[in-house]
Amino acid sequence: MGRVLVTHPLPDGGLDPLLEAGHQVVSLDGSTALAGAAGGVDGIVCLLNDRIDARVLRAGGSSGLLKVVSVAAVGYDNVDVDVAATLGITVCNTPGVLDETTADLAFLLVLAANRLASDAERDLREGRWKGWGISDHLGRDVQGSCLGLVGYGRIARAVARRAQGFGMEVLHTTRSDTGEPGYVARLGELLARADTVSLHVPLTASTRHLIGAAELALMKPTAVLINTARGAVVDERALVAALEHGTLYAAGLDVYDGEPAIDPALLAAPRTVLLPHIGSATTETRTVMARMATQAVCDVLAGRTPDHPVVPTGG
Ligand code: GLV
Repeated sequence: MGRVLVTHPLPDGGLDPLLEAGHQVVSLDGSTALAGAAGGVDGIVCLLNDRIDARVLRAGGSSGLLKVVSVAAVGYDNVDVDVAATLGITVCNTPGVLDETTADLAFLLVLAANRLASDAERDLREGRWKGWGISDHLGRDVQGSCLGLVGYGRIARAVARRAQGFGMEVLHTTRSDTGEPGYVARLGELLARADTVSLHVPLTASTRHLIGAAELALMKPTAVLINTARGAVVDERALVAALEHGTLYAAGLDVYDGEPAIDPALLAAPRTVLLPHIGSATTETRTVMARMATQAVCDVLAGRTPDHPVVPTGG
């Protein structure tokens, strides 16, 4: 049986597939660097905030042991999948099981940002609420407004279903024509038409800072930006400027460039709802994700094809 490095404690039951298959689970003690630990293991189960770069992969690959890296997340921009492919290391992720949970969180941000819920709650907590006022805490209705989805994978589609229930018109844009109602070919057109824009693309070289100053300038001054994808898809400095100058109404963010560090300018920006990357954070979903990630390691080490191997980009 193999030795499997699990970089962080997993939710209850998450390790069961490894233990039932008889693998030895190794944890990362605070003093051991990932590259050091990768040298003597057959598999790694990691989280999205573990950087599995060429150094770590080569350390594992050079011992000839490391066969699989399994990320308990749908996004795997933290893993150098092309180097892994050249070393014959399979990379797996956990798509599908977190769609509804993450879409709930995205929609929570759609509502909270449009209704300026964080500002209102802050006023209450900090003693500034003096009672019901007819002109106080006025946000924007989502009913009858237009939601623009950038990317149209499983999570975006789950957000679209929710938006339809709230009486929103839904547009989407992707690189290739979906042929489905609401498809808009040009990102710029979607940005100009939508009242709320929600981002659902993976972080790649071509989506880094996909939403920068030029794109924000295309959005209505009454529009809201939602990001539950990856922080670096948005140029945060440009976002802060748009919020400060009032050329964008509000933002709801769950992800940040360089998280968990957050740009102080973003913390100070007006009309923002900021959450600490909790898109998939329910007990049920995180348990399924953990089990799926450990099961994938068992599959690869047993010579079976895992359910969700990641395809290298060739970059
Ligand atoms: C969360 O961000 C994930 O990629 O699963």
